[in-house]
Amino acid sequence: MEKLTHKKILLGITAGIAAYKCPELVRQLVKAGTEVKIVMNQSAAQFVTPLSLQALSGQPVYTHLFSSNEHAMEHIDLARWADLILVAPATANFLAQHAHGLADDLLTTLCLAANGKLLFAPSMNQQMWKNAATQGNVSLLKTRGIQFAGPAEGEQACGETGPGRMLEPAELIQACEQMFTSGQLEGKTVLITAGPTQEAIDPARFISNKSSGKMGYALAEAAKSAGAKVILISGPVSLAPLTDVTTIQVDTAANMHHAVMKHVAITDIFISAAAVADYRPTTPAREKIKKSTSLINIEMTKTKDILQDVAARLNRPFCVGFAAETENLEQNALEKLRTKAVDMIAANWVGEVAQTQNTGFDSDNNSIHVFTTENNTLLRKTSKTKIAQQLIELITEKYYEKNPA
Ligand code: PMT
Repeated sequence: MEKLTHKKILLGITAGIAAYKCPELVRQLVKAGTEVKIVMNQSAAQFVTPLSLQALSGQPVYTHLFSSNEHAMEHIDLARWADLILVAPATANFLAQHAHGLADDLLTTLCLAANGKLLFAPSMNQQMWKNAATQGNVSLLKTRGIQFAGPAEGEQACGETGPGRMLEPAELIQACEQMFTSGQLEGKTVLITAGPTQEAIDPARFISNKSSGKMGYALAEAAKSAGAKVILISGPVSLAPLTDVTTIQVDTAANMHHAVMKHVAITDIFISAAAVADYRPTTPAREKIKKSTSLINIEMTKTKDILQDVAARLNRPFCVGFAAETENLEQNALEKLRTKAVDMIAANWVGEVAQTQNTGFDSDNNSIHVFTTENNTLLRKTSKTKIAQQLIELITEKYYEKNPA
């Protein structure tokens, strides 16, 4: 609930039976440390009284577009005041009005004037929800970046069953928290490496590894959703390019090193998820090596450690390394935390252990042990998408601990 502390939420209530859940919603928001202002139209006041909402929020409840005791620009002030405008319940009529830019009362007017986050919690009869007009309005609103919480399915006040129930107060609180999680890295630049590198043996062959890039790409998506500007330095992978992520394709460890160093000065957080080759053939053959002798030796030279070099910089970003281990995961991760002098190590199994768990290289799932000098956290097996979101949350928390806003 900490994410809601000191946040300013404007709760808009429209005329739906689910408005009876609003007093409990307001109570829980206030308990979470949120400053709540309430705007409702007169029809909504038939379902829940402004007086009880005023008592619970400790703030006056706004019901009219032009009230005598406030100035005429109230709708603009309220829209600018709010960190988040939550409309719950949001009726079919309200969604239609907002989708088509109609504004004939205080709530619809301030929603139109809003330039920040909007979260709508629909509530209506299941057939009204399924109606093509409503669905069209919802799609239109989503394309404009408006977020939706629910509706849930179940028994409805009218006696029918289906989708259209407003979410419960606790679920709406979670949805509000999610809205703030997703903006936590606004204004920050996150540099991420992903995928394998390829080190040439000759013009036809290279040494590489099993990294698919899925973990690094999922992290890039999660950082983007958290509001960050994301620069992704990607080794050769066969994943679809990400939208709104600056992606630089590289092949070798040396090129990845060069690309990272080129962008590191503008980076707030560096996440090294790539499986970078530790060694490269010292002198790749100019021509394809012929099959002549039964044994050949390829001399290998150590590559530069990108993560270590970033972490050694004077004004370095918050540094997160990965550790891909086949044994002694904790011991090796802690060793990497120390020797690479980074802020955090995300350790995961690869090899046999990972294969039996269906995690690690190329899998769609992962499980990660996150180590810092103070503590360690286990992110249990789930999709790489979800693990990435959880890891970005942890990184964000630690980043702000170290660099208070
Ligand atoms: O790509 P996927 O198929 O989704 O698989 C994900 C993953 C298993 C590759 C990923 O989760 C992971 O563990 N990435 C790091 C792999 C690795 O190289 O680990 P390492 O323990 O060998 O290296 C430690 C750290 O140093 C890593 O952050 C690595 O990026 C970095 N490193 C290593 C060598 C080098 N020359 N430069 C580096 O920056």
